[in-house]
Amino acid sequence: MQDLQEWPHPPVTAHRRPADERESRRANGADWDRYADEYQATHGDFLGDVGFLWGPEGLTEAEAGILGPLDGKDVLEVGSGAGQCSRWIRSAGGRAIGLDLSYRQLQHSRRIDEQSGVPVPSVLGTATDLPFADGSFDIVFSSFGALQFVADIERAVAETARVLRPGGRYAFSITHPTRWMFPDDPGEEGLTATQSYWDRTPYVEVDDATGTTSYVEHHRTLGDWVAVLAGAGFRLTTLLEPEWPEGHERLWGGWSGVRGRLTPGTAIFGADLAG
Ligand SMILES: C[S@@+](CC[C@H](N)C(=O)[O-])C[C@H]1O[C@@H](n2cnc3c(N)ncnc32)[C@H](O)[C@@H]1O
Repeated sequence: MQDLQEWPHPPVTAHRRPADERESRRANGADWDRYADEYQATHGDFLGDVGFLWGPEGLTEAEAGILGPLDGKDVLEVGSGAGQCSRWIRSAGGRAIGLDLSYRQLQHSRRIDEQSGVPVPSVLGTATDLPFADGSFDIVFSSFGALQFVADIERAVAETARVLRPGGRYAFSITHPTRWMFPDDPGEEGLTATQSYWDRTPYVEVDDATGTTSYVEHHRTLGDWVAVLAGAGFRLTTLLEPEWPEGHERLWGGWSGVRGRLTPGTAIFGADLAG
């Protein structure tokens, strides 16, 4: 859920070119450190300190129930940001832990822990190398966390399978793969397809002043996601494409009522690990 037009950042040039896991991680960790303050200031109220949203449409886990029963469950949130979702899970009786690539996002998580009185134990780390023993969790999830910033998605999903117990639940939301075809513009411009759905070449921003890669985003088709989940031993049970709610006029980067009333902006997958 990037929204580059909403925050001051150094001038960058956008490219479409390969970017491996190392380059993606280095760029995106630094990007989220730079962006975290603005992100939390802009979206914190909408997210809620103790609140679980699956995306800009505002669908909550209380409404969707994708994770299943939470009471007494060991839960890992990958790409936890300021921990809002995990805090909601803790308030529902789950033992949620957060993991995020950005130190600054985790500082916001700690700040909200203290303000809300609902602390979420959190670690700095990456989705492709989870610092947990095999079979540690009943549920792993990401709400727009990590996955579209990761190059080696097979490894990230295999890591999830490794830390889940047999029969464990996995769910995640991402930008709906069909959005890749359109400019990331919340207005009418964002309704005309300008690139191929099947072109997986990453979107890469390079800092004009330093020449360093400052942001990378990766795209997979719906079929790619089914294949990577099946390949790691998951059985897909759920694919939600939340409709844009009547009267919801909040802008979030490229997400808007103008586009949301016509095309899906978010895809939420739910899958069970083989028992
Ligand atoms: C859009 S935020 C979502 C966070 C939270 N769910 C929310 O809705 O605010 C994406 C998060 O993924 C994290 N992230 C990016 N790449 C990651 C990686 N490779 N491993 C873990 N977290 C990552 C970012 O630091 C950021 O906090």
